[in-house]
Amino acid sequence: MKLERNIGFELVRATEAAALRAGRFMGRGDKNAADQAAVDAMRYALDSVDMDGVVVIGEGEKDQAPMLYIGERLGNGTPPAVDIAVDPVEGTTLLAEGMPGAIAVVAVAERGSLFATPGIMYMEKIAVGEAAAGAIDITAPVATNIRNVARALNKDVDDITVVVLDRPRHKELIQQIRETGARIRMILHGDVSAGVMTATENAPVDILMGIGGAPEAVITACALKCLGGAIQCRLWPRNDEEWQIVKQRQIDVSRVYTTDDLCQGEDVHFAATGITTGELLRGVQYFGWGAKTHSIVMRSRSGTSRYVEAIHRWSKLMRIAGLPYDQRVNGNEG
Ligand code: FBP
Repeated sequence: MKLERNIGFELVRATEAAALRAGRFMGRGDKNAADQAAVDAMRYALDSVDMDGVVVIGEGEKDQAPMLYIGERLGNGTPPAVDIAVDPVEGTTLLAEGMPGAIAVVAVAERGSLFATPGIMYMEKIAVGEAAAGAIDITAPVATNIRNVARALNKDVDDITVVVLDRPRHKELIQQIRETGARIRMILHGDVSAGVMTATENAPVDILMGIGGAPEAVITACALKCLGGAIQCRLWPRNDEEWQIVKQRQIDVSRVYTTDDLCQGEDVHFAATGITTGELLRGVQYFGWGAKTHSIVMRSRSGTSRYVEAIHRWSKLMRIAGLPYDQRVNGNEG
């Protein structure tokens, strides 16, 4: 019997390429240049994968995003037909400011199985790992969720760590968490990594709570589908323009989206590579002879997660990073 192909191994080359290109911009204060470099490399690498892919979560609508735009076809057009959720730099500010936790990430699932966010940029989220997957209810009070998760994890409430984006909009949420006695891990950016970390082995955090990007919610759902965790979300319109969309499209903002609503696929692949060193993944290290990357690759069907440390020699690297053979990743002499 032949081993089935695992597209994740090809996806991780794309996240490595994006990280290698984008990592050069660490701390250089230029978010757009960093993002563009990652987009170029990610697109180049994804386009050569044997798949018939369509971007469902990407850089935005076609008129603002020349590449990796929603609806863009990627891959060489051969089966499988898949949806793609991609974020070449998750945590662009972290990268541009030289702070921990920026990653390059992509997820792929069967065609038609990923939730296309309806022009509303944010979602309220709660996410946990496998052992607490049945214990969350986004419609219940914060304290109830924390108590139920603590019970599911066989912990006391004051052993629980809730990860929250540090934003003024979370003032009340933070207050409510504090009142329970649970601990808080405040993050500046990057709630995909935070959501994934609730579900990894030896998870350093127990619950992700709060309002973050809607595209990030779909990517997190893909990862949690692989890890057996769970996410629940509600759309969170941020301004009049978005409330207008809600009205026009008669969107029910009280609707709860579960992991399966955001990612219906049964064969989901997720790959992420660290750009700057964070708690989930180490960032790109550059050497005179090449570079090292650290990635995670997961597949829902097999339930496997693999951590991949890759050594890239400059002479070979150029092909996957989409650069002319005689250039280093940032255009320096090789
Ligand atoms: P970017 O990489 O697009 O900048 O997103 C980073 C991020 O922190 C996400 O992880 C999070 O979901 C979202 O931004 C939160 O949005 P905001 O910074 O507007 O509160």
